[in-house]
Amino acid sequence: MTNQLGLNDYKQKIADLYNRRSQTYDDSKWHVQICQRLLEYAQVSSRHHVLDIATGTGHIAIAASQIVGSSGRVIGIDISAGMLEQTRNKVEVLGLKNIEFQLADAESVNFPANSFHRILCANSFPWIEDKEAALQLWHRFLKPGGVIGIHTPADTADIGYVVLRQVLQKYGVTLEPSNRIGTLETCQSLFANAGFEEIEIKTEQHGSYISLDKAKSRWTGNSLPSPKQSANHLSELSSVQLTQALAEFEAELEARQTEQGVWDDLTTVYILGRKP
Ligand SMILES: C[S@@+](CC[C@H](N)C(=O)[O-])C[C@H]1O[C@@H](n2cnc3c(N)ncnc32)[C@H](O)[C@@H]1O
Repeated sequence: MTNQLGLNDYKQKIADLYNRRSQTYDDSKWHVQICQRLLEYAQVSSRHHVLDIATGTGHIAIAASQIVGSSGRVIGIDISAGMLEQTRNKVEVLGLKNIEFQLADAESVNFPANSFHRILCANSFPWIEDKEAALQLWHRFLKPGGVIGIHTPADTADIGYVVLRQVLQKYGVTLEPSNRIGTLETCQSLFANAGFEEIEIKTEQHGSYISLDKAKSRWTGNSLPSPKQSANHLSELSSVQLTQALAEFEAELEARQTEQGVWDDLTTVYILGRKP
């Protein structure tokens, strides 16, 4: 696919990733569940104008379009043409008329100020490069009294990642695959700094016990697109440091092993805020 949006390398990698995943994306029940929960929390209702940021295959946009009805309107945006194609197919089958999609980067898209009652973003906010600037931009698109709702994994989610991050920090390497936004306090201040009020943070635990081997596989299994130049954090270590860091990583995970396996936290966070 050509880069119609003038995306930088990082975002083009994300678009390519989801173009490849688009045909099978809807096999995941997890994403549907998250989207339904976010819709409920944000109290989308009849006549609302809704913006679904990084709509993907349209789980939120399509459900919202059925809630807002013919007097409402839904716009879904995404950088992946492949994901949008899947969405458009579903919309055509369902015959929905109050919904449209745009191939657009959520960080540079433009809408008139005060356009939407609800702006939602599920399973995607961690990909956003400049989160503070994006929240400020989206704040402008919301009507006064409008609500933003974002879902993200918590900082504590994914034990292999958490331990890897702790170990690498000791070696001066900041692990930054673009897959989380920090502590709950960071989320709160991000939203407050963007001008949102009545900020509410809801969390849910979806964790489970996993095998030690699976937890350890995080050492090399981190090949997600990263906004940093070098996506391979391990390449920043010397071979001596690498051996030492791997031993520390494995020892830490082994120390956490129980009879059931290693507890793999999957705290899911929903952040809601209102534009005054
Ligand atoms: C895990 S999918 C989530 C899709 C949908 N929101 C859901 O919950 O099922 C992540 C989506 O974010 C999109 N995305 C990532 N960065 C984006 C950006 N800067 N602007 C628009 N879409 C973006 C990807 O193309 C992909 O479709």
